[in-house]
Amino acid sequence: MPIETTPVLTGSHGVAGRDGAGPAPDADLVAVPFGPGPVLAPAPWLESPVPVDALLAHHEAKGEPGEVVEVPTVRDGGVRRVLLYGTGDGSAAALRKAGAAVARRAKGRASLSVVVPSEGETAALVEGALLAAYTFTIGNGRTKPVGEIVFLGGDERDLKRGEAVARATALARDLVNTPSSVKTPAWLADQAKAVASGSGLGVRVWEGPELGEFGGIRAVGQGSISPPCLVQLSYTPENPRAHVVLAGKGITFDTGGLSLKPTEGMKTMKTDMAGGAAVIAAMSALAAFEAPVRVTGLVACAENSISGSAQRPGDVITQYGGRTVEVLNTDAEGRLVLADALAYAHAELDPDVVIDVATLTGAAKVALGVNLGALYATDESLAAGLIAAGEAGGERLWRMPLVEDYRAMLDSDVADLANVDRTMSGAAGSIAAALFLQEFTGGRPWAHLDIAGPARAASDEGEITKGGTGFGVRLLLRYLATASGPAPVRGA
Ligand code: BES
Ligand code: MN
Ligand code: ZN
Repeated sequence: MPIETTPVLTGSHGVAGRDGAGPAPDADLVAVPFGPGPVLAPAPWLESPVPVDALLAHHEAKGEPGEVVEVPTVRDGGVRRVLLYGTGDGSAAALRKAGAAVARRAKGRASLSVVVPSEGETAALVEGALLAAYTFTIGNGRTKPVGEIVFLGGDERDLKRGEAVARATALARDLVNTPSSVKTPAWLADQAKAVASGSGLGVRVWEGPELGEFGGIRAVGQGSISPPCLVQLSYTPENPRAHVVLAGKGITFDTGGLSLKPTEGMKTMKTDMAGGAAVIAAMSALAAFEAPVRVTGLVACAENSISGSAQRPGDVITQYGGRTVEVLNTDAEGRLVLADALAYAHAELDPDVVIDVATLTGAAKVALGVNLGALYATDESLAAGLIAAGEAGGERLWRMPLVEDYRAMLDSDVADLANVDRTMSGAAGSIAAALFLQEFTGGRPWAHLDIAGPARAASDEGEITKGGTGFGVRLLLRYLATASGPAPVRGA
């Protein structure tokens, strides 16, 4: 059977305003908002055998976000169902949750029409609904989301904004959810090229002998039959205010290398390029949001495999820029490929700000669980900006310390640096990884997002779907596009 390499992309739900007049005659299912206060006069087409406020009272519905009450109605001479959905305070968080709840209730239906509340964060409603309806299947998967979501009313620009954010996030989820049998480094580079041509980005790929100076990427990739590469995407607006480099970990599968992982820890390791996916996906939407900064995205792609040509524990490699690293544990590979990207950014790209995103350590997941990303930063305003962007978009970050005293853990007897704690204590594993990366930033304002926890979800929850979550896309987009105020979507 041929492998289906084009997963069902799910950002494809229709988004359309329809003058707020009412649902299309053929609408399968209609959702109508209600808030915590008295129920507004229902739309004329919402003809229920029982008054709507009595129904809501019967269900003890308070208008909280996530509440959905199903109401039988009479329409076009037949009995239809309307979903009354709570909107809470109309905040972004509330409407994101409300949108997700409604979309989940419409699972398996051909089409859902959502009446947009007259007030509140419309973009978040759209984002929540589209992301909750995301699914990834190759062939006939078990999950069948709603086929199409149509929004009735709402500001066109807000609808487009929400859709653009959801589409970018869905792209990242698709990249993460693609199995590693398909997702080689070259495949990931091809996806980046496709995104570049679709979004007007510049693109460059280093592969084979061109990777000469990128000793970390080469060493990690040398054990795999699928060769490594480095991808660079460029977004250049007119009169950019600053230059931001995004660097993503693009390990298309992490076996651990010769420091092999046990099966339990290995089976989700197709997720190990989630940082790279977030970079590619965020960059896909920069033009639509008219981001006012120049952005260069670097994705360091390699498969950390096990074979006779794999690097060995104890090998000494030379990173981009000339620093030598003793590889004491081949499972600490993310920092090796990222070190090259960071050193290259510092030496060649003259960035004002560098942000890397990586599923870097199990320790970050142990410390913060799957709902929060770990943030390290050398610059206060950068840290504050990223935390605020995450908070606003529903992706929470927690600032972790770059404890200088711990840096000595990484001293090597034979090289400039060891890639893990020389004593293999495993203590402060996420901090140690961050301190390793910091060595390659050249002292530029830098932030590191360790997303090992939130990159992947074990079950559906709100707008999060099981599997790759696309964590980081929304906060990066918001940070890059709204740093100087509102983010209009071009053409909206
Ligand atoms: N990709 C893993 C980190 C990871 C673990 C991501 C669990 C998502 C979930 C990374 O390459 C890794 O293996 N890190 C090691 C570092 C150790 C050898 C110092 C780890 O966390 O165990
Ligand atoms: Mn690893
Ligand atoms: Zn890894």
